[in-house]
Amino acid sequence: MMVNQSYIKSRLIYLCYMITFILNNEMVCTANPAGSSLLDFIRFDMELKGTKSGCREGDCGACTVLMGTPENGGVTYRSIVSCLTPLANVHGKHIVTIEGINTGFLTPVQKALVDNSATQCGFCTPGIVMSLSAAELSMTQTTFESLIASLSGNICRCTGYKSIERAAEEIALVIKEKDADDPVGWLVANGHLPGYFLSIAGRLEEIEKNEDEDKSFGLKTAGGTDLMVQKADEMSESVILPLQALRELNGITIMEGRCIIGASVTMSEISHSPEIRKYLPELNGFMKLIGSEQVRNMATVAGNIANASPIGDMTVMLLALGAELTIKGEERERIVPLKEFFIAYKKTDLADNEHIRNISFDIMPESALFNFEKVSRRTHLDIASVNSAMLVRMDGQRIGECHIAAGGVSPVPLCLDRTCEFLRGKEVTSETILQTVAIMKEEISPISDVRGSAEYKTLLLRQLIIAHFLKLFPGRLNLSPEMI
Ligand SMILES: Cc1cc2nc3c(=O)[nH]c(=O)nc-3n(C[C@H](O)[C@H](O)[C@H](O)COP(=O)(O)OP(=O)(O)OC[C@H]3O[C@@H](n4cnc5c(N)ncnc54)[C@H](O)[C@@H]3O)c2cc1C
Ligand code: FES
Ligand code: FES
Repeated sequence: MMVNQSYIKSRLIYLCYMITFILNNEMVCTANPAGSSLLDFIRFDMELKGTKSGCREGDCGACTVLMGTPENGGVTYRSIVSCLTPLANVHGKHIVTIEGINTGFLTPVQKALVDNSATQCGFCTPGIVMSLSAAELSMTQTTFESLIASLSGNICRCTGYKSIERAAEEIALVIKEKDADDPVGWLVANGHLPGYFLSIAGRLEEIEKNEDEDKSFGLKTAGGTDLMVQKADEMSESVILPLQALRELNGITIMEGRCIIGASVTMSEISHSPEIRKYLPELNGFMKLIGSEQVRNMATVAGNIANASPIGDMTVMLLALGAELTIKGEERERIVPLKEFFIAYKKTDLADNEHIRNISFDIMPESALFNFEKVSRRTHLDIASVNSAMLVRMDGQRIGECHIAAGGVSPVPLCLDRTCEFLRGKEVTSETILQTVAIMKEEISPISDVRGSAEYKTLLLRQLIIAHFLKLFPGRLNLSPEMI
């Protein structure tokens, strides 16, 4: 019988892969499958039942925990949904469940929720406490607005949210004086967190990194927010290749007029990046339309591209920015324009032994204008029916360069090349825009599905293109209600 060497190797690594992290105040080491969920480990292996299991698809937030990552000599904490977190991604991290923030008495977050009757059946409450605690732990000031924003991924079926809002108002008052340079120190000193948090940074240093392990094969896994929904069983039974452990896939750099984003950079890292805020300030607002706080803390840019969803939000923005991918194989690297990466529905130009290393695009000159629009049934936690991004550079009164990308209107995310060609050299007038949307219709091929009929999606894209121009050229168009 022929024995497949790589199969044997994969089984050995599968069996020997040890994942070490700090869970609350305890160092834990597990040989559970690297692709199994953190939620199951917490509830069934560690029997910590405070973290609830609801939808298991990242939608309800009942399973929210904190993930602390060593950064700049300290630990940065973010909220994540443990149901979609592959165990491999917590190696070397600090995971905090509701049991781990108990101080022996109610913390100000817990007290505010109790005092305002913001907990009724209580199923959502541990997740809500963890999301609010993540907002407290942020390296910026914690405000009422940031506390409310932290809850974008938490659903409560009982309270009607008003009492939770009142609790957030109270928390905002008691956290006004927080030292944003040392949130952990301040929160411990003021009874918001137990004292053991102060020892975590040092204890995480003791965990051996797994960066040098064989990363040449396995099911390529980044944040897991797609894979753990689509292929949960396969994940827990396969050898997985945890891409976030590869240092070269992290970080955002600006070099020679280009912005280079590591493949494993998360949506939240993009939002907080000083480079992105400086060179593409618009992006921060648009990022909030992707998933929820917890999902953005996990979801990576390359995952959004490589899953080849026709409606990936980041993908559509990057298409309009004219992005290129650096793809790394066993022996060589190659550069592929993002618009050529998608071959057919859910099919990409990526071989099994290749992965995306980074995504890069030219930094927009200050005069360039950029906009993103998305229509979905809910503002948060919903993928788009149709989305679109537009980059325009004016040449005097006329359009010099224009890139419009759209999702949900063809089997792959689409660059509307013919539409943009028509726009070049034109003035921005109502007539031009109405001619433009007529050309757009010839370029798309939407299908009817659960997100809407083909006619509806065509109409949506028409409106989104008009919305780009209304937003970027205020007062320039004179469209009557009948024309819109
Ligand atoms: C509740 C919820 C809400 C969501 N909302 C949105 C939304 O509003 N907008 C949106 O666009 N998406 C949304 N998503 C989808 C998903 O979160 C994103 O597409 C995300 O960017 C996927 O990234 P990931 O790192 O989690 O990918 P993973 O699940 O880890 O991987 C996805 C795919 O990409 C491949 N992959 C990952 N990295 C690489 C790499 N470097 N090289 C090659 N292949 C790679 C994997 O093999 C896999 O096939 C949502 C998901 C959930 C669960
Ligand atoms: S169980 Fe609903 S988000 Fe995890
Ligand atoms: S208190 Fe019941 S779901 Fe929130």
